[in-house]
Amino acid sequence: MAKSMPPLIPRANGEGILSSLKMTRAYLRDPPGVMQRLYERHGPVVEIGLFGMRAIVLLGPDANELVLLNRDGAFSSELGWDPVIGSTFPRGLISIDDGHHRDHRRLIGAAFKAEPMQAYLDGMRAGIGRDLENWPLALAFYPEIKRLTLDLAAQCLLGLPLGTRATQVGRDFITMLGASTALIRRPIIGGGLWRGMRARRRLHRTLLAEIPQRRRSPGPDIFSAICIAVDEHGAHLGEEAIVDHMSLLLMAAHDTTSSALTSVAFLLGRHPEWQERVRAELRVWTRDNRGRVTLASLRQLELCEMVISEALRLMPPVPSLPRGLTRDVEFAGHRLPKGASVGIHILHTHRMEELWPDPERFDPMRFTAEEVRRRHRYAWLPFGGGAHMCLGLHFATVQMKLFLAELLGHRRIVLRENYSPEMLWLPIAHPKDGLNLLLEKI
Ligand code: HEM
Repeated sequence: MAKSMPPLIPRANGEGILSSLKMTRAYLRDPPGVMQRLYERHGPVVEIGLFGMRAIVLLGPDANELVLLNRDGAFSSELGWDPVIGSTFPRGLISIDDGHHRDHRRLIGAAFKAEPMQAYLDGMRAGIGRDLENWPLALAFYPEIKRLTLDLAAQCLLGLPLGTRATQVGRDFITMLGASTALIRRPIIGGGLWRGMRARRRLHRTLLAEIPQRRRSPGPDIFSAICIAVDEHGAHLGEEAIVDHMSLLLMAAHDTTSSALTSVAFLLGRHPEWQERVRAELRVWTRDNRGRVTLASLRQLELCEMVISEALRLMPPVPSLPRGLTRDVEFAGHRLPKGASVGIHILHTHRMEELWPDPERFDPMRFTAEEVRRRHRYAWLPFGGGAHMCLGLHFATVQMKLFLAELLGHRRIVLRENYSPEMLWLPIAHPKDGLNLLLEKI
């Protein structure tokens, strides 16, 4: 009997550049709205022309599970991420596949184990406390938190002192970050990508030269931990690989955490009753942890964690994840062809009415243990999932809790009445005006 052909993948828009431009403009204005309309019209599989490229978007928790679990290795992270960040952050953990990825992740993972994490935690706590003392009363929160998380990244990841942005390493890193999000993706002389690639070469040389010293006398930082990590045969990671992974780690650590904390600050300002509940929890915790804060004690901050989770649901820092197909895959009655670019959409899943009743409403109670158990495992995925799940998840959570403990212990977040800043979702979610608020002293 003849096998019936799978139905053609529905197209959201035409092939032409004008159609792609129109879709890109609509998407930049309102990504969750565009994705929801496509989902209602076409279901969980739709092809879209966006940013001058064509990709198949897979929507909903089953699609997330299929792509992230990647059981038969069809969804390549290298093919997905390389076109996006390959010029400035090539060969980082996020954009390598299979056994190569598994081996490197095991070695880099050594830097994120409980013992080294405790050392970063001690440094972070002191750094945050000192820095926050100097925060003004009225400020744009996002640039300020970006400055602080860059300092913390330099300290915990590279073992450099706070204030590193004034140095060449800090400047090069900021230039690379800018380049990774430059809209023009060609290295035109003097342009953002060109400057980023030059900065990358300089930072690369600096880190490379540091490796022998870090191996001789490692410090309590992630760079040192990765330099000395060995596999089961006693072999270190290659020096070039260490530098590639460090560059990606710096990027992954800095912008995402700033975005998340900005969302938390906004939502706590908008919901003073929750701000008070979290402050009350943090007060008791601070009283009981006057001495050394441990990873275990941070886990007691349940309300704080629920608020962070709800902020990450409403405003996931990374709204979508790209992959490339290395072979044909069947999904929801469609054949997804080898060679296609595919994406899953975290932000869309996080606002699906069938998963999250009244999805626009801020409600941290969605994250009680019971509610979490009841939901699809891939309904909430701000940190991705599967083999490429965020390696810095605990690092980020620790940093966010320490920051909130310091901030809410001494300041009250106050927003202007009816203030609702416009969100920019790409490349990382953040408010367009930087989030203007008051931090009143308590
Ligand atoms: C709230 C903060 C953060 C968010 C929302 C976030 C989100 C993500 C997501 C969605 C992925 C999966 C990418 C994919 O599957 O293609 C990822 C991967 C990764 N993240 Fe994070 N991240 C955060 C903080 C951090 C921090 C602080 C670090 C490092 C200190 C970090 C390091 C990494 C690395 C190395 C990967 C790649 C892992 C792999 O491919 O095996 N992230 N992150």
